[in-house]
Amino acid sequence: MSKRLALPRLFELKAAGEKITMLTAYDYPTALLADKSGIDLLLVGDSLGMAVLGYESTVPVTMEEMLHHTRAAARGAGQTPVVADLPFGSYQTGAGPALANAIRLVKEGGADAVKLEGGAEAANTLAEIVKTGVPVMGHIGVTPQSAALAGGYKVQGRDEAGARALLRAALSLQEAGAFAVVLECVAAEAAAWISRQLRIPAIGIGSSGDCDGQVLVCYDMLGLTCGFIPSFVKKYAGFAGDAQRAFAAYAEEVRSGVFPAREQSFFMLEGEARKLEDS
Ligand code: KIV
Repeated sequence: MSKRLALPRLFELKAAGEKITMLTAYDYPTALLADKSGIDLLLVGDSLGMAVLGYESTVPVTMEEMLHHTRAAARGAGQTPVVADLPFGSYQTGAGPALANAIRLVKEGGADAVKLEGGAEAANTLAEIVKTGVPVMGHIGVTPQSAALAGGYKVQGRDEAGARALLRAALSLQEAGAFAVVLECVAAEAAAWISRQLRIPAIGIGSSGDCDGQVLVCYDMLGLTCGFIPSFVKKYAGFAGDAQRAFAAYAEEVRSGVFPAREQSFFMLEGEARKLEDS
């Protein structure tokens, strides 16, 4: 079965009032584990720039990097649909490059859908991609590609005008054919109000529990992120501490000769080692 067929299920979940679960995955094992855990949707987010590649923002992430990580995640994703981010610069210069890059993420990367940032200004490009048959997810509120360029992140939709502007942006993406929209760092009441007025699912991050679903950066929720972790993240594990303890124990055991022990070693056939000594 094509994983694309799983996308309409998101509408059923919204209609039934059941929450949609989405997680980022940048590699094969994370995608495999998320698929086994019953996550509804995987996102190869351009947050991989900070999470995996050590960049300061998502701005430097290239198409080649997105393709490399999308291929890895898609190999592990099983039946879970994979959405891949169009990185900064891959869709802002016109519909032509946007279509070509969206198709590359599907054809070469194995993604089932793509995501792009922006409201009404991105709607035409989004509609053109949808016409090619590639499903597209929108992303409004804090949009990290432009926020990094503008020099900061600020909670969106804190007043009536802001909330109404966000709704207009979400409706223009819905009209353009988006199958879902991410609301990032939107004030709780505004996020709930926008989610209720959309036919398509609104997936929140830092936007309260009243959206149709949630997405988190996997390394943040695993406690593996080494840099800044936003206050809206809940840590479900402490992998960074575990990893550091394991690395330190390994280094200590190698230095003291405890590792590798006999059980972690291979041996020559009976009597063969003696021949080396005798010659
Ligand atoms: O890049 C990403 O991980 C994202 C999520 C934060 C929604 O866009």
